[in-house]
Amino acid sequence: MDTRSTRAGDVGDTLIYLSSSFLKVCNCCRSYSAVRKYLIVAVVCFGYLFFTVHVSHTSTRQDKRPELWTGNGVYSQSKTDQGLTDGEVNESVSPTRVNVVYITLKSKRHKPAIIRGTVRPKLRRKKVKVKQQDGIPDREKSERQSTNTSGGRLPYSEFDGRNGDYSSIRIYSTRAPPWFSNEDITAMRFLADSKITQIDEVAHRDFSSLILFKSATNRSDNATKCCGVVKRPVDMSEVFAFHLDRILGLNRTLPAVSRRFHSLGEGQPCPVVLWDPSLGPVADQPSEKLNWGSYQTSLKHKCWHRGVTPKPEWGCSSIHHHEWSKLVVFDFLLQIYERLDKNCCGFKPRPEDTCVELGYHEECRDKDSIELTHIIHRRHDPHHLVFFNNKGYFDRDEDNLDFRLLEGIKELPDQCVSVLMSQRLREKLLQSLFLDQQYWDSQGGRQGIEKLIDVIERRAKVLLTYINAHGIKVVPMNS
Ligand SMILES: *[C@@H]1O[C@H](CO)[C@@H](O)[C@H](O)[C@H]1NC(C)=O
Ligand SMILES: *[C@@H]1O[C@H](CO)[C@@H](O)[C@H](O)[C@H]1NC(C)=O
Ligand SMILES: *[C@@H]1O[C@H](CO)[C@@H](O)[C@H](O)[C@H]1NC(C)=O
Ligand SMILES: *[C@@H]1O[C@H](CO)[C@@H](O)[C@H](O)[C@H]1NC(C)=O
Ligand SMILES: *[C@@H]1O[C@H](CO)[C@@H](O)[C@H](O)[C@H]1NC(C)=O
Repeated sequence: MDTRSTRAGDVGDTLIYLSSSFLKVCNCCRSYSAVRKYLIVAVVCFGYLFFTVHVSHTSTRQDKRPELWTGNGVYSQSKTDQGLTDGEVNESVSPTRVNVVYITLKSKRHKPAIIRGTVRPKLRRKKVKVKQQDGIPDREKSERQSTNTSGGRLPYSEFDGRNGDYSSIRIYSTRAPPWFSNEDITAMRFLADSKITQIDEVAHRDFSSLILFKSATNRSDNATKCCGVVKRPVDMSEVFAFHLDRILGLNRTLPAVSRRFHSLGEGQPCPVVLWDPSLGPVADQPSEKLNWGSYQTSLKHKCWHRGVTPKPEWGCSSIHHHEWSKLVVFDFLLQIYERLDKNCCGFKPRPEDTCVELGYHEECRDKDSIELTHIIHRRHDPHHLVFFNNKGYFDRDEDNLDFRLLEGIKELPDQCVSVLMSQRLREKLLQSLFLDQQYWDSQGGRQGIEKLIDVIERRAKVLLTYINAHGIKVVPMNS
């Protein structure tokens, strides 16, 4: 099925042909019986459908550049396409699908999308409640339990396995997009396709509660590939966050995919995130809790920058200075407030936001004492952050963005900023998110995904304007 050869002329011819045959059919209809009329109408409809589906692939590609493959083998035409030559692509990925599929990357829409209501699926009542596992330090609870005792085994279905014969991670070629490592692809497949043998609710010392699934395909020798954390259907932005993180070159999130469970989330797809048992909060001791005041002071001293060991009075944590710059780009684009602004002091929250529900929003006056939360790292890699709870908000307007997240930040990573300035963010996000079929479908397919990207693009513009207006330096931050 080589749709590439179709030219504008062919499309026009087909149009003329179809419309003339439609006219003929209409003329004939008058003399036919009712049954035949319906039959003819059905045939015409089928023809029309075929025409629109087939042609919509081709009609947008008449201009300049081929838009995208996700096709088998080489990119051929796309070789000249800058987006795909951004980095050397590792060819050792094995495809999960064999058919060739083309999606176009050029957006046909001109209207900005209205996002409200498309992103926050209503939570219906569930058979097994997927608990709030947002890791908000549910202090009382964790102090009472303070151990990692298992919260109990949850029922699971043996159908919580693969979706038929093929993976829900769609890779049609031997090359995955270059922003994914082979480990990312392996992890995505593990999360999406592995056969589940057990689902446990685990009370954890550092995270209020986790639902972990174990799988028959885990390599028992490799603890980091043991489990997936199942989150609530409303936390689906975790998946978007993972793709955005890799495209921006941050590499600070854990792989996340969308997966449907028969026994959880009432059959709605849930985000599942790779579990890494080495994760822990940055401030382990209550005496060294990070609050806004000490965080702002520590930013001034560029902790650990150029290998300088910080002095005690600098208020530094174990985290390297550049990590905060990476964090704020990510959190600003997704408007994640739980880490740096848990009380929602930097914007006008809605009544249903957790900061309002829990009464935090009332406490914005003594801003320096407000704690930072969900600041996570790997215990064996203390200088780098891990972005673990990535609940983003797509339904926040540009006039209500949380600029507090950017406070105190004087430099931003050049790699991120160049992606944001490149005009290719949309293309990359489409290409990337297409891999996760469950996620793609759960957001309403291409149309829904484009709306989410609209939001991110507008925020990227705001961020770039902010960088100029505030003289933020854009510097290399390779760690
Ligand atoms: C691709 O991955 C393999 C192993 O995972 C590695 O040996 C090889 O160097 C990689 N190639 C590129 C171009 O990154
Ligand atoms: C907590 O987990 C560790 C290992 O993961 C185990 O040795 C220990 O017994 C657990 N603690 C409790 C109270 O179950
Ligand atoms: C998967 O990992 C768990 C522990 O994390 C282990 O008990 C189980 O035996 C492993 N399964 C396989 C098939 O290796
Ligand atoms: C997990 O696998 C990686 C490479 O595949 C290896 O370097 C690492 O040591 C393994 N971890 C454990 C706990 O075996
Ligand atoms: C991404 O982060 C993981 C975990 O820290 C690391 O093992 C991996 O090498 C990183 N990948 C790149 C391309 O930096």
